[in-house]
Amino acid sequence: MSPQQNPNRIVIFDTTLRDGEQSPGASMNLEEKLHIASVLEEMGVDVIEAGFPIASNGDFEAVNEIAKKVKTSTVCGLARATKGDIERCAEAIRPAARGRIHTFISTSPLHMKYKLQMEPEKVLEKVTESVAFARTFTDDVEWSAEDGSRTEHNFLCRCVEAAVAAGAGTINIPDTVGYAVPDEYGALIRMLFDRVPNIDRAVISVHCHNDLGLAVANSLAAVQVGARQVECTINGLGERAGNAAMEEIVMGLKTRHDHMPFETGVDTTRIMKASRLVSNVTGFAVQPNKAIVGANAFAHESGIHQDGMLKHAQTYEIMTPESVGLSKSALVLGKHSGRHAFRNKLIGFGYDLDDAAVDNAFKRFKDLADKKKEVFDEDIVALVDDAMSQMYDRVRLVLLEIVCGTAHPAKAILGLDVDGEEKSTEQTGDGPVDAAFEAIRELFPHEARLKLYQVHAVTQGTDAQAEVSVRLEEDGYIAHGQGADTDTMVASVRAYLNALNRLLIRREKSAPGNDLSV
Ligand code: KIV
Ligand code: ZN
Repeated sequence: MSPQQNPNRIVIFDTTLRDGEQSPGASMNLEEKLHIASVLEEMGVDVIEAGFPIASNGDFEAVNEIAKKVKTSTVCGLARATKGDIERCAEAIRPAARGRIHTFISTSPLHMKYKLQMEPEKVLEKVTESVAFARTFTDDVEWSAEDGSRTEHNFLCRCVEAAVAAGAGTINIPDTVGYAVPDEYGALIRMLFDRVPNIDRAVISVHCHNDLGLAVANSLAAVQVGARQVECTINGLGERAGNAAMEEIVMGLKTRHDHMPFETGVDTTRIMKASRLVSNVTGFAVQPNKAIVGANAFAHESGIHQDGMLKHAQTYEIMTPESVGLSKSALVLGKHSGRHAFRNKLIGFGYDLDDAAVDNAFKRFKDLADKKKEVFDEDIVALVDDAMSQMYDRVRLVLLEIVCGTAHPAKAILGLDVDGEEKSTEQTGDGPVDAAFEAIRELFPHEARLKLYQVHAVTQGTDAQAEVSVRLEEDGYIAHGQGADTDTMVASVRAYLNALNRLLIRREKSAPGNDLSV
């Protein structure tokens, strides 16, 4: 049933591609954004906030291309309360089957005085002006009161009333700085229902940041008093401590339907796929104990728990792994396993790769199975994550040879593919890592500084794969990269290149004239 027909239907508004991408180091390129948008559409997300079109040409293009591609979800762009922003946003979403303009302005005393340097009455005028102007382009306009949770109540009511009167169909009350606590935030939403005369003409939306770890709790408190849109991101990605995690909102509503009788349109069995994709694309690993999507979320280690689980799964399991897209598979893969078994294994882990990606991962799996006595599930996850994170890279590893030891300075012979052109070089260095990274700098000159280099073994044993994390910094911008291989040096170079490729996306975005943040 559609949100319009069912009063208990919660609209899921995903902002992974906009607020999520504002997370330092989480820049995504166009292909990556299109891929994420199609996964969000497939999983039944109602609204995809695809970017902030005025912010950069890259953002504009992403919103515009997603608007062309996505058919069932509404595609939304963000705009400040200015004509320029709104026009650019309208142009970006024009091809969408369903397009939304999301315009916002700060309403809290602090933000109005210091950020906007505007009197409240002027802000109120802007609310009406911006919403009315946005409505000249589309019927679907959302208005947000930035720092809404710290806004004086009388003024918030006046702004909301003005936005609805000007034609906003969705009113969003963000907890921009993650300051609210659940009963207080719920009371704020209830207060709006009690006091704003035209509130029944709009859907009330919530947008909570996680600075105190309360984003999901605050969002659910608001739903219980009448909010019917929740803004969230996959894996809780977002600025600072992130946004409310979509998987937690959706699974919370599904698992505790007895207490919160609300529905979403999200197919929860696609959650793992979306989580893995966002983690691979951004290089932001999911913490193992993260609710719903962490590697340990369904692992039962202690003897008492395992015993209980064997007697009856519900003793310790409140939701099944299958409900989020994980399937238990006893299948052990080895060097004789075929592509079909490999693909099934991947589906069991929540991956859903196209044929080319499966072929690529299968080839690497076969190489690994030749080198390693036993291939564990963790090996396959590391290998596929590594392959996926490099899918759209501009600079790729072609060849690496290392000579090192006590006799001579370490030497690296490196071949790279840069935008389709192959280049090679030979460099010495203070150890093999230094030599290999020097060789990368020689073939692809850049100023970025190495801020972190970390190696860990994916499994036990001397034949284990090494998983390497690299952090690079350029002009204050941080990029993360990951690489995995049984050869620690190959994993190191892959991780470095992965981080470098993310810096390139950032460079394109921050070309002169492209610099803007919310
Ligand atoms: O956190 C926030 O206030 C926002 C708005 C732009 C909606 O992201
Ligand atoms: Zn936000």
